This record gives sequence, C-alpha cells and structure tokens, in this order.
Amino acid sequence: MAASSQITSMEVGKTSQDHLKVHKMKKKVLRKQVRAQHTLMRHEGIECVSHATQSLVVANAGLGNGMSRHQLFRIVEEYGLVETLLMPPNKPYSFVKYGTTEEAKKAFDALNGKEVTREDFGQNIVLYINFVEKVFWKNVVPTSLPPGLTVVEKVISPEEERRMLESIDWTEDEDTQNAQKTLKHRRVKHFGYEFCYNSNNVDKDKPLPGGFPGICNLFLEKCLKRGYIKHKPDQLTVNQYEPGQGIPPHIDTHSAFEDEIISLSLGAEIVMDFKHPDGHTVAIMLPRRSLLVMAGESRYLWTHGITPRKYDVIQASELGQKVGTITADVGDLTLNRRETRTSFTFRKVRRSPCNCIYSSVCDSQKGQQRQGQPSFPLSEMEASKLEQEHVHRVYEEIAAHFSSTRHSPWPQIVEFLRSLPKGAIVADIGCGNGKYLGINKDLYMIGCDRSKNLVDICGEKDFQAFVCDALSVPIRSGSCDACISIAVIHHFSTAERRLATIRELARLLRPGGTALIYVWAMEQEYKKQKSKYLKEKNDSKGKEEEINTDTARGLLSDQMPDGSSQDSASSDQLLNDSKGKGCDAKPVADSRLPVHTNRTSFHSQDLLVPWHLKSDTKKKGASADILSFPAGSKESQELSPVFHRYYHVFCEGELEAACRSLDCVRVQKSYYDQGNWCVVLEKL
Ligand SMILES: C[S@@+](CC[C@H](N)C(=O)[O-])C[C@H]1O[C@@H](n2cnc3c(N)ncnc32)[C@H](O)[C@@H]1O
Ligand SMILES: [Zn+2]
Repeated sequence: MAASSQITSMEVGKTSQDHLKVHKMKKKVLRKQVRAQHTLMRHEGIECVSHATQSLVVANAGLGNGMSRHQLFRIVEEYGLVETLLMPPNKPYSFVKYGTTEEAKKAFDALNGKEVTREDFGQNIVLYINFVEKVFWKNVVPTSLPPGLTVVEKVISPEEERRMLESIDWTEDEDTQNAQKTLKHRRVKHFGYEFCYNSNNVDKDKPLPGGFPGICNLFLEKCLKRGYIKHKPDQLTVNQYEPGQGIPPHIDTHSAFEDEIISLSLGAEIVMDFKHPDGHTVAIMLPRRSLLVMAGESRYLWTHGITPRKYDVIQASELGQKVGTITADVGDLTLNRRETRTSFTFRKVRRSPCNCIYSSVCDSQKGQQRQGQPSFPLSEMEASKLEQEHVHRVYEEIAAHFSSTRHSPWPQIVEFLRSLPKGAIVADIGCGNGKYLGINKDLYMIGCDRSKNLVDICGEKDFQAFVCDALSVPIRSGSCDACISIAVIHHFSTAERRLATIRELARLLRPGGTALIYVWAMEQEYKKQKSKYLKEKNDSKGKEEEINTDTARGLLSDQMPDGSSQDSASSDQLLNDSKGKGCDAKPVADSRLPVHTNRTSFHSQDLLVPWHLKSDTKKKGASADILSFPAGSKESQELSPVFHRYYHVFCEGELEAACRSLDCVRVQKSYYDQGNWCVVLEKL
C-alpha cells in the first residue's frame, strides 16, 4: 500500500526499541486507514486511491461524530490553502480539497493517525486519511417551506426579548412542578387556558385567572397590526428547552385550536422538523427572536417536533441565523450547539368543531370521511390497504383489457435488454403481461407480478413468470445479471415503500449487475416538449397505438367528468424534494387523493388515475369502482365501469435521489423518456 510510505510524521524514534514502537504504531495506523478505506467504499461508495491527489477524505472528522466545521477547518488549514471543505450531514467523514497535491500530501503525512480532541465533546478521536480523486457530493435541491408556514425574523428587539423572558416566573407555583414531571423536566407554563397533555386539549370552560403577561398582549397587538395573524390568541404555552430536550412530532389537536398557531423563539435558535404524512421532512431553522407562523396545511396536516439532541446541523455561513429550510449544501454545514431556548406559543381556543379539509387527520371529523374516497395514507397499514384496493385489485380486474393495450415495447428498454450479454439472467419485476419477457431470446428472463391474472397471461405466452410482491421477491440475492422494473414503483404510496422496492431490486443483482427503472413523471412537458401522453389527448378516440409505457390505451381520450377534483391536489415532495421546473404540485388542500383527468398535466404527485374498462374484456364478477360519479348521473349508468389506480408521479431528480440514498448501487445513467423518469443502476 503506497500510503504506508507516507506516514512520516511519526518517525521520531532513536533507539532500536523506539524504532520498534514506531514501527508497530505505523502498522496500526495503516491497518485502520485501510479499514477506513474499505468502509468508505462499502458503505458510501467513496473510492480512495493509493496515489497522492489534491483531495483527501478524513475519516472520523465528520458532523456525524461531533466535529464542527470551524474546528476541522482550523486543523486542515495548517497545511495549505483549503479550496473546499465538504461536510455531509450525519456522516463520520469529511472531504478536503487543497490547492495543490503537495499541500494535500503534507496534510496526509501530518494528520493520518493523528489524535485530536473534539472541542465540544472533550473526547479524543484519531483521524484516518485517504486520498480521493475528487471531492464530490450531490447536494439535495433546496426544499421549500411547508405550505402555510412562515418565519418572521427579528420580530422583537433584544430588549423586548429580555422583558418577555423576565415576565415568566419559573419558581412560582406547584402546577409547574407537576407539569415538569410529566414533561420530563421540560419547563412549561400555561396562560389563558390550561393545556392537558393527556388529552392534548384544553378545558374550554375553565379559563385560568390572570390572563397573559402584559408584554405578551403588546406583542400580539403588533402581530395583528402587521398581519401575521388574523385573530387574537387566548391561550399561551411557554416552554423552556435545555440542550438535549425535544418535543415529539405532533399536530396540534384540530378540535382544540383554531387555524393560526404562532410561536416565538427566545434565548436561542433551534431547528424544528416538519413532516408531511407521506414521510417527507423539512428541517427549519427558527432563529432567536423570530416568529414561526403555522397556518393552513402546515398547521393541520404536517407534524412538527424538535429532535432531542445537543447539536443541530445548520448552515455555517449564516451561523444559525438563516431563516427557513436547512438545505444539505455540504459545503456549508456545521454543528450548532444548542442553548436554553424559551418558546412562547400562542393559540386561539376553538369553540366549534373543526371542519378543515384535512379530514384524515382531523379529530373533529373522525368517522365522517366520505365513504370510499381514498385519502393519502398515514401509516404503513393504510399504504398497503390503499395499494391493495387501488392497485392490485384494479390490475386483477382489468388484466385482460390492460393486456390487450400492451403491445409495443419501448425502444430504450428494448435497447437495454438487447445490450445484455448472451445467457444473462434477467428479472422483470412487475412484468405485467410480459411485454418485455420475449424481447431478447438470448437472455434467461423471468417475470413476476402481483396480479395473478397478468401472470397467467404471461404463462399463456409461454413466458416464465410467477406471482409475488415487488417488496419481497423470492429470488436469491445476487443471482441476477440484470433487472428491469417498468412503471411499477410509482404504484407504491409512500416514499419508504418506493425506496424499499428499489432496495429489493438491487438485492437481486450480482456485483456489476444493472437494473433499469422507469416511473411516471410529474413533468409531462419537459424541455418545452409535450410528452406523447399529453399529445395523445387530441388524437382520435379509436387510435390503437400504445404510447406511454404506463398510460394505457384505455385512457385515451377518457375524460373524467369531474375535473374539479383536480384542484384538491396533495403536494408530495419526497426524499429529496426536487423543485424541478415542471414540478409545481399545488399545495395540499385535501388529504383525499385527487382524481386525474386523463391526458392532462398533473397537479398533484399523488393521485388516482381512472381506467375505463371496456365491457367486452371485463372479467366476470368484477366490481368496478364508480365512486367518482354522482349516483344517478349519466356516467354512472354507462356500461363502461371506471377503476381508479393509485399513482405517485415522480418529480425530476426524485427517483435518482432515492437510488443515490442506497449504498449498494451506483446511478449509471438517468434520463427522461416520454413522460417517464428512468435510471440505470449498477450494483457495487
Ligand atoms: C403499469 S403496469 C406495467 C407492466 C409492465 N412492466 C409494462 O411495462 O408493461 C404495472 C404493473 O405493476 C404491477 N404491480 C403493482 N404493484 C406491484 C407490487 N407491489 N408487486 C408486484 N407487482 C406490482 C401491476 O400488477 C402491473 O402489472
Ligand atoms: Zn380539522
């Protein structure tokens, strides 16, 4: 290993015993350095090189193990001009790029095996250094704030902050002591109404005597005048958080409080995490003396909470004062030590039941949900139920008709299959009617699908196929040379389930094996080109050529009568929340899934796509889902029954980001193909 010859910093021994000691030390460092190399490769896909370069990866010096940007910068700048210092969030390593290779070598010699003390933790750690060809980290596209949420900076002066903090007497009464017990030592005090943590509600008939501290009333007047709020709150909770304390993710009970909830951060800044029911999270910096206003979707649908920890990952350049979302710009992240923070949260007690549009999370509307109209899944169980009802059952019912619309294979998928070597073992996960199973006779292809009726159709064509779920494929790990999964993963209804499916696909591949994935794109117009799916809209009804891999013939010119439901879009921005140009899902106005109007652009990432079943292909005994037609309407009397398939259409970058979050694969290629986002993965 070339690295060993570069450990010169420890060559200080004089006697032969000293030499022996140094030799042993060197060997130990080398062993650990090589181990770091392997770990980086295996878990992170970071390839170290044995020759000197300008760039180093420093193991054990990451935000994930308590090294701050400031401290690491001070350590590495001693050896030369630091061009880049990348610190990925939650990772135990960082990248340093020097102006020259000489400087990087100097740093390598001095720092490999060097013990340093982490400033804030007082613990020692040993750095292990390796050269890399270049420092690279794909930044996640900046995320946007949850709809309805605003953060107003410097809403009060330092003087007002001091007076507000002084207005709270923590030593006062016993109630506080009791509350402290239930809240694990977080200090809390209520004004206006007592908040009961067991019921997560207030006793509306028992206002507390005394009202708000005077300074708070003045503050609220200001908020009303400036338009931050429309109604004056009548309940105040003051919380004091010590570093390390947090608050579990929750939605403030709908029936307890009105729409606007505002919270002042005093004493110190904090990072608060917001989470959409689909799993998408946004970390938001709440600077000291700022006001968080939660209204609409952010108040009703998203949970908010504070992760209990002593440090937050924040953007270094703004030193904790930047408002809004923490982006994963790894060239600019550091750790921020938490200090004691006091929050003043003002709410308005609700006097009548909540009739918001987020009925799936509304305690006032429990049990009143419109029958049959599926909502966005809020748990794993709901997700699997939704897919059962609005994917699996539908494919089972429409199998024959669906299959009759699936003839033409897609050129780029054909090309992928034709490029594989003779004798390759290839699995088609979610193979449908087996459209791709016979493309290249030189391959051993096997298909699988959740739909028995579709698998039977494959059997009729003498293809090898079996029934299984893409989340758990009964094929031995590493046994496939290639896999394809065409238009399947968009049928999974949570980000976690979509990722799990990709992971399962990767599991099947041998090292070096490749997988081709297609999913339907949110952007049906890309680079000024309308996808064929959209263009088909004006074509004649009878046109028989299939266009989109997954926008079946049956959809052609089928217009849903109720276009209005399109407005109730649910914005679902995923793992990476890409804000691609065409990806402008409207904010959630309803947790019920909107029904898509076929051959139009998408307004929501999560939706139901109607399938109008031709009666001659309808299986006997099939029961169609006609909920979108008002009873007695012209449409409901038509012979052609309508099924609704659930889809999650992907935004630009979303599929790729999900793939990149897996350690075991590399994204070889990613592209847009006629309204679909596509990737080719390679197993590492
Ligand atoms: C739009 S079709 C695509 C079929 C085929 N890959 C093609 O390109 O023609 C989606 C297929 O995914 C299958 N599918 C949906 N969810 C699945 C799951 N959880 N496991 C396996 N297959 C699934 C459906 O049964 C259906 O055959
Ligand atoms: Zn509600």
